[in-house]
Amino acid sequence: MKPEVLLVGTMLPMVVSELESTYVLHHHEDPDDPSGLPEDVRGRVRALVTYGAVGARRPVLEVLPKLEIVACFAVGTDAVDVVHCRGRGIPVTNTPDVLTECVADMALALLLAVQRRIVAGDTYVRQGRWLEANMPLSRRMGKHRAGIFGMGRIGQAVARRLLPFGCEVHYCGPNAKPELPYTYHRDLAAMAAAVDFLILTCPGGAATRHAVDRRVLDALGPRGTLINVSRGSVVDEAALVAALTEGRLGQAGLDVFADEPRVPEALLGLENVVLQPHAGSGTEETREAMGRLVLDNLAAHFAGRPLLTPV
Ligand code: GLV
Repeated sequence: MKPEVLLVGTMLPMVVSELESTYVLHHHEDPDDPSGLPEDVRGRVRALVTYGAVGARRPVLEVLPKLEIVACFAVGTDAVDVVHCRGRGIPVTNTPDVLTECVADMALALLLAVQRRIVAGDTYVRQGRWLEANMPLSRRMGKHRAGIFGMGRIGQAVARRLLPFGCEVHYCGPNAKPELPYTYHRDLAAMAAAVDFLILTCPGGAATRHAVDRRVLDALGPRGTLINVSRGSVVDEAALVAALTEGRLGQAGLDVFADEPRVPEALLGLENVVLQPHAGSGTEETREAMGRLVLDNLAAHFAGRPLLTPV
């Protein structure tokens, strides 16, 4: 008999069709309200598949007594109640490594776009304003000091990309990594004061919530650039909007927000900000690889083999 799988939220079509052919697949939309889930289905679901932003939260987990595994289509599992799962001995898998390079590319793309005013320049040409006057100057990318908050796999991939630009790399995180040739800061505000670019690549969740607050933004300063490809929760978004509109922070490139897909209205009118719809891992190649990893983790679980990427 095919195992029964619950898909919470939407998912890449390739993953859905393979789930449909391999398992008995049930769909559920609301991660906070299990009321739409029929009683008999609740009692038969053995695996839950979810998307990073949707996660697997206690209200749904609690009504699935036979749950054996949660497979998350994301590297960040901050929306999965991992503590609850651990308590029940339910493994959680994520999709690390396969997305590292694309997320790091997005950080660099945002940094280049912000520094060189690529989006503003494009608008300038399209609106015919170049015919009237030259565009104001931008700022160079290279030979700046960059501070990376979260020197994990993605942080290190960002650092590798910054070196050919002649940037000096600093980092901040819970532990110094003496094997890396970069300058370590224990304190985030101290690092922000020492760099021109602050790039966020840390995990989301309680430990980093609002780590980038007014104090950190002010330390980065009116010529500083903030790049966020981690989670919106890492930044106090109200403080960020205030710093950008009041000119206390120079510019920002943002792929993630506190309440996605809603973006603060005030950011939409700012020229010193480049916005993306949480698309760091959003390339065809990487999303396909992430989907494969979700499916391979499930297959390993049901075949009694070791999981490929347990959290
Ligand atoms: C995307 O945000 C992820 O966590 O993979």
